[in-house]
Amino acid sequence: MSVIYIQGGVPLEGEWQVQGAKNSVLPILAGCLLTREAVAISNCPHLSDVEAAVDILHHLGACCVWQGDTLVVDASGACHTSIDEGRMRAMRSSIMFLGPLVARMGEATLTYPGGCELGPRPIDLHLTALQAMGCEVNEADGLITCTGRPQGGVVSLRFPSVGATENAMLCAVGAKGDTTIVNAAREPEIVQLQEFLNALGGKVWGAGGSVITIQGGQTLHGGHITILGDRIVAATLLSGVAAAGGEVQVRGVDWRHLSTVLQLLEQAGCRVRSGTDSIWFRRRPDVPLRAVAPISTAPYPGFPTDAQAPVMAAFATARGTTIFQETMFSHRFGHVPGLKAMGADISLHGGGAWVRGVPQLHGAAVTATDLRGGGALAVAALGAQGETTLDGLEHIDRGYEGLEKMFRHLGARAERR
Ligand code: UD1
Repeated sequence: MSVIYIQGGVPLEGEWQVQGAKNSVLPILAGCLLTREAVAISNCPHLSDVEAAVDILHHLGACCVWQGDTLVVDASGACHTSIDEGRMRAMRSSIMFLGPLVARMGEATLTYPGGCELGPRPIDLHLTALQAMGCEVNEADGLITCTGRPQGGVVSLRFPSVGATENAMLCAVGAKGDTTIVNAAREPEIVQLQEFLNALGGKVWGAGGSVITIQGGQTLHGGHITILGDRIVAATLLSGVAAAGGEVQVRGVDWRHLSTVLQLLEQAGCRVRSGTDSIWFRRRPDVPLRAVAPISTAPYPGFPTDAQAPVMAAFATARGTTIFQETMFSHRFGHVPGLKAMGADISLHGGGAWVRGVPQLHGAAVTATDLRGGGALAVAALGAQGETTLDGLEHIDRGYEGLEKMFRHLGARAERR
């Protein structure tokens, strides 16, 4: 089994082009089922979660071909209506196939999805959204069966769930009538899903706001989309610079998608200059970060739960105490034992982590237990004295396209063996 070795204490310097966003490409891959023509997805990241989605598409009868960083999907031959437990458990986003599958086939049978262990991750909002559009949903013996041609309707979400908003959009585009999604999630990946559906001939408005309107009854054609830069990978990279010091130019990401993270790192003493498609970022290696006011995760445009772990790793060596309040997922502090093994002083109370900065972390043997927690341990290792051995790479590879290569390119002593 491979591990990543990181010899810490080297400031990061240089430029990096950020990969395409995992959370953008996954619903788009599910959306390819809505058309019988080919779709080209450029800047598609090579990730194990993308492979899992491709495996589901193949299983359903679609054809997927890589051409460099472009993935071409032709779902004209899709004919199956069920996805088995093994494929469903490979990742959380397997549930994104429910909406487009029932819209195309009038029937879908799935099991519950897998994904990172961050606490209970129900799918009730996905199911009630499909019911509101006229589908019949039955749950029995671990199987979810969804039947009926979706008609459209009003989908009112009690919480702005990213996945439920996307599933509802995907189903609604294939519905006969119109749909309004109220209290929709507002993440940039949802705006890109709208862009994708409209590029295929769909009629979707309002993404980025809380109300999304979809005019159903369109026949979708083929098309092309370029996946936007991954804001969480960018946040991880910047956290690495905040931890180790240095000066980098991050390309291919929209700074507005990261504004809460950038503001916080600026308050902590980092320098930031944002351009249209790039961010220049510096933390002087001889000046430690300063603790900041409590940070609470929230739906976009609030502070992203996915950035909580990597940012916390940088604050492990800040001057003073920083409190991280996790409001989205109940078990999202899986990185804390690893950080503590590296010398961090962190205590957990309820949904909060009290991070009392220490002057220096040291290398240790640590294990990633979830995707962004793995990113956090790498960030801590970059600033630590000595060597860190990081395993649990199957979690990291779900969402980072060569995490160690990114940091090595910027001068870190990081390699996978
Ligand atoms: C997506 C992102 C993930 C991110 C999360 C929150 C993808 C592929 N994943 O996950 O990286 O951490 O948004 O920004 O885009 N909930 C329910 N019932 C449901 C669905 C969700 O109660 O049916 C709750 C969840 O338990 C959680 C909250 O809503 O507490 C937010 O979850 P949601 O926005 O749905 O996250 P995901 O779409 O799973």
